[in-house]
Amino acid sequence: MRMRAAVLERFAEPLVVQDVELADPGPKEVLVRLVACGICHTDMYTASGVDPSGYAPTVLGHEGAGVVERCGADVSLLGEGDHVVTLFSPQCGECVHCLSALTNLCLAIREQQNLGYLPDGTTRLARGGEPLRHFMGTSTFAEYTVMPEIALARIDREAPLDRACLFACGLSTGLGAAMKTAQVRAGSTCVVFGAGMVGLGAVAGCRLQGAERIVCVDLAPERLELARGQGATDVLQGGPDVVQRILEMTGGFGADYTFEATGNVAVMRQAVEAARMGWGLCTVCGVAGRGETLDVVPRLLITGRRVCGSSFGGLKGREDVPALVDHYLAGDIDVDPFISHRLRLDEVNRGFELMEAQDGIRSVIEL
Ligand SMILES: NC(=O)c1ccc[n+]([C@@H]2O[C@H](COP(=O)([O-])OP(=O)(O)OC[C@H]3O[C@@H](n4cnc5c(N)ncnc54)[C@H](O)[C@@H]3O)[C@@H](O)[C@H]2O)c1
Ligand SMILES: [Zn+2]
Ligand SMILES: [Zn+2]
Repeated sequence: MRMRAAVLERFAEPLVVQDVELADPGPKEVLVRLVACGICHTDMYTASGVDPSGYAPTVLGHEGAGVVERCGADVSLLGEGDHVVTLFSPQCGECVHCLSALTNLCLAIREQQNLGYLPDGTTRLARGGEPLRHFMGTSTFAEYTVMPEIALARIDREAPLDRACLFACGLSTGLGAAMKTAQVRAGSTCVVFGAGMVGLGAVAGCRLQGAERIVCVDLAPERLELARGQGATDVLQGGPDVVQRILEMTGGFGADYTFEATGNVAVMRQAVEAARMGWGLCTVCGVAGRGETLDVVPRLLITGRRVCGSSFGGLKGREDVPALVDHYLAGDIDVDPFISHRLRLDEVNRGFELMEAQDGIRSVIEL
């Protein structure tokens, strides 16, 4: 079939919205009619050419939600008409990591996905007969996508898909960091560095876990205001003295849980230093620049602080994403304030401009 899609032709150039060809779903693959897609930093990062693992041409986009249009052979997990959220982090349910409760890093299709191919090593996307690669296994800046069934989470049909798409990446990453990776305990004190989509999700996750005090740190006052709306009890302007101020707020000890959601390694260090001696856990969500390293005084670790990272919030996508969407439907997560702009696919480059200008949290493309 032919469809409209936003193609990254060359790095550091605007995406080109055009007609491309999409082949039928193969075995264990599903054709999804996309309804909405968020624009995330990772799309822009790859488009810029800075990402060392990036490739072009490709159809970008990974925060998609839509409806199953057709199933390929041997599909058992989904049926036509199911509402789904795309998963750049799949859940095969069978690999050694899927069988372990300790990680969400499914191994099933990693290698091919990282190269831009579906699991059988080929693509369903083409232009003028030339294959086009898939991005993050999702390629959701498009009217349709073909994806492996293990990379789609079936959600409640009641959930509006223009909100549900945020659960495909940033929002779930933040929620999961608090609820799944750190497993914040009720009554605890949490500090979240960064109030973008990921940090705001972490604030909401801390609240859902019953944290007593949630401090959010950011540079932008309007983002700190959004953090209050998600449950932050205190907000702080970021800067070199922020660790000192957090220690003062916590009787000199620091927080039970800290979260880093900026991608800045200096802030990661602050997040480690703001964690409490004895048991403070620092969860790193941000993606640092190429070659950057995290600087930590080892004594901080010997005295009981712990550091861990979290990919996609530690969530096993097919199981955990529908549960988060249910939380949203139950009224526990206020998603609307995150959606600042609604765009057409043709306006995708405008979405990147808005993101660069830090204008709002998320632009959502309506397909
Ligand atoms: N681990 C994962 O699976 C995963 C998934 C999605 C995104 N990410 C990463 O998470 C990070 C955050 O993503 P986002 O979409 O929320 O980004 P974002 O740019 O919207 O938010 C980052 C926030 O950090 C704030 N900030 C910058 N410098 C600061 C400082 N010195 N002190 C305090 N705050 C500061 C900014 O003002 C901004 O509000 C990025 O690095 C992104 O690549 C990771
Ligand atoms: Zn993303
Ligand atoms: Zn797996």
